[in-house]
Amino acid sequence: MENLLPQTIDTLFTRCNLAAMAGNSLSVIENEALAVSGEKIAWVGKEKDLPQDFGARCKTIMDCQNRWLLPGFVDCHTHLVWAGSRSHEFEMRVRGKSYEEIAKQGGGILSTVRATRTASRETLLVFASKRVETLIRKGITTLEIKSGYGLDLETELKLLDVMGDLQRAFPLHIEPTFLGAHALPPEFCGNPGGYTDLIINTMLPKVKAQGIATAVDVFCERMAFSLEDTRRIFETAKALEFRVKLHAEQFSDSHGAALASAFDALSCDHLEYLSPSSVKEMARHKVTAVLLPGAFYYLKEKQKPPVQIFRDLKIPMALATDLNPGSSPVFSMALILNMACLLFGLTCEEALLGATLNGAWALGLEQAKGSLEPGKDADLVIWDIDHPWDLCCFTGLDPVDRVMIKGRFIFPYPLPLKDSH
Ligand code: NIG
Ligand code: FE
Repeated sequence: MENLLPQTIDTLFTRCNLAAMAGNSLSVIENEALAVSGEKIAWVGKEKDLPQDFGARCKTIMDCQNRWLLPGFVDCHTHLVWAGSRSHEFEMRVRGKSYEEIAKQGGGILSTVRATRTASRETLLVFASKRVETLIRKGITTLEIKSGYGLDLETELKLLDVMGDLQRAFPLHIEPTFLGAHALPPEFCGNPGGYTDLIINTMLPKVKAQGIATAVDVFCERMAFSLEDTRRIFETAKALEFRVKLHAEQFSDSHGAALASAFDALSCDHLEYLSPSSVKEMARHKVTAVLLPGAFYYLKEKQKPPVQIFRDLKIPMALATDLNPGSSPVFSMALILNMACLLFGLTCEEALLGATLNGAWALGLEQAKGSLEPGKDADLVIWDIDHPWDLCCFTGLDPVDRVMIKGRFIFPYPLPLKDSH
């Protein structure tokens, strides 16, 4: 879109330093100005290039006092709607039990499933709303949420309905993903094919008919769904015109990433055990690699995703919180940036791109989200920092000054907005 200063400007940010994340780099420009018109970014440019009469054309002028403006974070992988707590499992893991051992004994995902099945839609909405609010306060303006703690038709639909409720209640954009194939429910113990049949014949058509999810995900792993079950689910998902994505190679190489690539998946996520042949398929099909250092950290994993190969093959790397009650109870994207740098060896620039523009790619939202460019949604955060690297370096600070989503200030709220020019 053209970079034109509109006649009427709803909000003009002045005296800001910008990390626009345009064109796959940090794109830092100091002493910048940015104009918002309606829900969109209308103009980005040097303050000195503003016309004489710009003050008269602005409804609000926001003097950023040299703070930093970045696109809002895009959290492209979460399991945010759940009931119950698993901190007792955290304690078990601290004492030496593994995630897989706990899962085999009926804990893990299935323990959250039990609590989630008995919770009402209203209760789930209350829990989930608090989490969404926290994420917005920490600079997240686009959010993907997966179902997968129901594992029966009724509860899976309930989870997706809660996501719809959240979308109506909050201004941030939510992408709902159906993850019925997250774990084998107890009713189908020893019969994974039977549960896959239920997903294919009943759940996917119902979810499609109700229009409550845009993508379908599967946990392809020895403790979850086989490659063959994953293929069957993807075939039906594609026939129903869902986009697909995959939890792939988190604990072992199940060759899921190659399969997902053949189905033109949006993303493959985790990828610690990704093989060289699968990574080539990801590159060939332009699949985004979503790295989840929160789960790697919490599960004390040793094997890292092949970051250097992603770089060499120009596979975009996105980052996400993977917010869930077990393997990644992480509410801060800034903490994820820090983990991505220290645990996986991403540069600060790669990490910041991963949490913004590449997160948008992972959701197929790269035209509207993830960078500060004219024509994109005015989803942005003013950070109280000296340099964007601060976001990767400091943990526990989350120094958000203001959050704007689609042209409206959301946090702090109500906003003490005063023209300071
Ligand atoms: O992304 N890998 C599978 N699913 C989640 C874990 C969810 C849970 O432990 O409840 C993940 O890490
Ligand atoms: Fe996950």
